[in-house]
Amino acid sequence: MASSWTPCLVLLLCLTLSSVLQEQAAGKPAADDDSELRQRWSKWQAKYSKRYPSHEEQEKRFGVFRDNSNSIGAFSAPQTTTSAVVGSFGAPQTVTTVRVGMNRFGDLQPREVLDQFTGFNNTAAVLKTPPPTRLPHHSRKPCCVDWRSSGAVTGVKFQGSCQSCWAFAAVAAIEGMNKIRTGTLVSLSEQQLVDCDNGSSGCAGGRTDTALDLVARRGGITSGERYAYGGFNGRCKVDKLLFDHGAAVGGFKAVPPNDEHQLAMAVARQPVTAYVDASTWEFQFYSGGIFRGPCSGDPARVNHAVTIVGYCEEFGDKFWIAKNSWSDDWGDQGYILLAKDVLSSPNGTCGLATSPFYPTA
Ligand SMILES: *[C@@H]1O[C@H](CO)[C@@H](O)[C@H](O)[C@H]1NC(C)=O
Ligand SMILES: *[C@@H]1O[C@H](CO)[C@@H](O)[C@H](O)[C@H]1NC(C)=O
Ligand SMILES: *[C@@H]1O[C@H](CO)[C@@H](O)[C@H](O)[C@H]1NC(C)=O
Repeated sequence: MASSWTPCLVLLLCLTLSSVLQEQAAGKPAADDDSELRQRWSKWQAKYSKRYPSHEEQEKRFGVFRDNSNSIGAFSAPQTTTSAVVGSFGAPQTVTTVRVGMNRFGDLQPREVLDQFTGFNNTAAVLKTPPPTRLPHHSRKPCCVDWRSSGAVTGVKFQGSCQSCWAFAAVAAIEGMNKIRTGTLVSLSEQQLVDCDNGSSGCAGGRTDTALDLVARRGGITSGERYAYGGFNGRCKVDKLLFDHGAAVGGFKAVPPNDEHQLAMAVARQPVTAYVDASTWEFQFYSGGIFRGPCSGDPARVNHAVTIVGYCEEFGDKFWIAKNSWSDDWGDQGYILLAKDVLSSPNGTCGLATSPFYPTA
């Protein structure tokens, strides 16, 4: 153990040292240069139309922004070093750079992002999750699948400050199935799920499986155009739920848990929902590369829902492509690449394989 780590540590120290020297040589300003930071803060506030109710709140938020900016700077400075540390899930030799960057969550701490922008509550009652459906072991499983390139994925959406990730994840999976089946990509209604899914709690959180169960029982879901997203708890427009469908849904299935091979075969057929742990700072500011953590793979600790719209295992580094609902400002244009077939746990990176579902016609 120690012997295999020693060369790695030496390498890390060398890289750190060299990057420090490079920075000094480049005459980079110190991280606590307040006026430069204040300038970035005003630009950031303008970009995201941020207003605060009081001076105290404004200063408090500036403090969080400063800490986040400094951490992003520190993370990004010695590239290889950082990715090796972040990639500590796997063997140190597979060094793939993961990137972080400033985004709309700049004035928030991870706990606040979790409370405001996720929405999967694992302790809420499970409705009636179907028994897992095992696909035949030799089902089609290409090296790479990307449903975006087949036009089966709508643009990245933004759930806003509503705990409705579960609705967005379910809708993206239905949009994908509908396009694959009918040839037409229709943007569908998350708001309908927020308003009508009694198994979930609207903007207080919910589950993709109860959402899929609802639309399966009603035979379909309304288009986003005819039932627009507001990001609040509204009254269910029952007539639309029953009679105004932009896509038909007949049922839904569960992928066998903690089995990335089964998950890949399912994703090869259509986009699939997944629960993940999105509670870490690195996830909050993820901006590209293959994410390997830190995050939890414990099914009791997943807290966010996303939709897996592809994977790739062709070029050595295997990854899943997950669509998030935090706008295209976050992540890799709204997406996150999560390490695939991690050896440390069958539950998948951030627990992505713990409870995946997909709708059926
Ligand atoms: C999750 O749901 C349970 C049961 O409905 C509830 O008591 C709890 O407060 C919820 N937790 C969060 C974080 O929303
Ligand atoms: C949700 O529950 C309410 C009250 O029990 C009921 O009136 C309504 O029909 C339910 N809605 C759906 C869509 O099942
Ligand atoms: C993986 O999931 C199982 C249950 O499905 C759980 O008991 C186990 O603790 C999880 N492992 C990790 C590393 O989180």
